Amino acid sequence: MAVKEVLEKLKTIDFKDLNIEDSTSILKDLKVNDSNINLKVVVSPGLREEVKKRIENAIKQTNPNLNPVIEFIDEAPKKNPFEQPVFSKRSIKGVKRIIPIASGKGGVGKSTVATNIAIALAKLGFKVGLLDADIYGPSIPTMLGTKGARLTANVFNKIIPIEKYGVKMISMGFLLPSEDTPVIWRGPILMQALNQFLFDVDWGELDYLILDLPPGTGDVQLSLAQNTAIDGAIVVTTPQDVALVDVKKAVSMFREVNIPILGVVENMAYFVCPETDKEYKIFGESKVPQFIQAYNLKLLGSIPIEPDLTKYADEGMPIVEAMPESRTAKAFIGIAKIINSIYAT
Ligand SMILES: Nc1ncnc2c1ncn2[C@@H]1O[C@H](COP(=O)(O)OP(=O)(O)OP(=O)(O)O)[C@@H](O)[C@H]1O
Ligand SMILES: [Mg+2]
Repeated sequence: MAVKEVLEKLKTIDFKDLNIEDSTSILKDLKVNDSNINLKVVVSPGLREEVKKRIENAIKQTNPNLNPVIEFIDEAPKKNPFEQPVFSKRSIKGVKRIIPIASGKGGVGKSTVATNIAIALAKLGFKVGLLDADIYGPSIPTMLGTKGARLTANVFNKIIPIEKYGVKMISMGFLLPSEDTPVIWRGPILMQALNQFLFDVDWGELDYLILDLPPGTGDVQLSLAQNTAIDGAIVVTTPQDVALVDVKKAVSMFREVNIPILGVVENMAYFVCPETDKEYKIFGESKVPQFIQAYNLKLLGSIPIEPDLTKYADEGMPIVEAMPESRTAKAFIGIAKIINSIYAT
C-alpha cells in the first residue's frame, strides 16, 4: 500500500465527536514499508485509546494483513506570549570568573577601577585578564602603556592577548591604526567584535576576567548580560547625586537580567591633603551609604581623588603599579581582597 492510499483512508475516519475536525491534522509522520504502517500522532492522552482503535480499524478494513503501529507524541507546550526569551549563556573555557565593571554615567572612573583591580588581583597571585569592552572609546591601551601593541593570532586562529603588569588584555585599541581613528561599526558588528574578544581569545587559564564596560545601560551591556555567563558585576559611582541617579539604572539593569552585583566602588570619594594628611570631602557628604542601604548592596571600597593618578595613567602606569604603597593603591588592593573573599566563601 502506498502512502497516498493510506492518507486517503485516514481522511475518511470521522473524529468529529472527539473534537478533531480534520483527521490528518493529528498526523505528524507516516511511513509505509510493505505491510508495516508507522504513524506518529498528536492527541491528548485521554483520546489516545479511541483514536488508536479507529485508525487500526480503518486500515485493517482495507487490508487485514496490514500492520499499523501508532506512536503518540506529546503536543508542544503552548508558548506564553509574555514569557521572556531564555538565553543560553556562554562561558569561556578556562576562565573561572567573568566580572564586568559598570556605571550608569560616563567618566566616573570605570576604566581606572577596572585596570587597578585587575593589577591588584594579579599582585595577589591570581591569573587575570582585562577586556576593554568599550569598543568606541577604548582607554585600556593608554592606561596600561600598551598603545602601539597589535593583536596576532595563534595557529588555532585564537587572538593572543597583550600582556603587561601580569595582566592579559584585549582592546579595540589594538586593532585601530591610530588613537584618533573612530570606530564606525553599528550594533551587530560591534557585538560580533565583542563576542570575538570574549570567546576567540587564547585567554589560557584565568581566575578572573575583568570587563571594562562602556558607560550606560545600552545594547552592549544588555547583550553581554544576556549572552555571557557573568559571575557578578561591580558598579562604580562618584559620591554625588548626579552619578547615583545613573548608577541606579545600572543596578536595575543587572537585577532585571539576574546578574548578582558584587558591590559598589565609590570613586573620587575624598581628597587627602598631601601636607596635612587630612581628608576633605570636596563633593560634600557622600550619598553612597544611603544608596547602598536602600538597594541592599555592599560597599567594596572608597577610592580617594588621587592627583598623581592621571599623571601616571597617561604614562601607562596604573596607580597600583606606580605607587603601591599609596593610600589609593591600598584601597584598590583592599577591593581585590574583598572580591576574592566573596568567592572564597
Ligand atoms: N580616583 C581618581 N582620582 C583622580 N583622577 C581620577 C580618579 N579616577 C579617575 N580619574 C580620572 O578621571 C578620568 C575618567 O576616568 P576613567 O576613564 O577611568 O572613567 P570611565 O568611567 O572609564 O570613563 P568613560 O565613561 O569615558 O569610559 C580620567 O582622566 C582618570 O584618570
Ligand atoms: Mg572607560
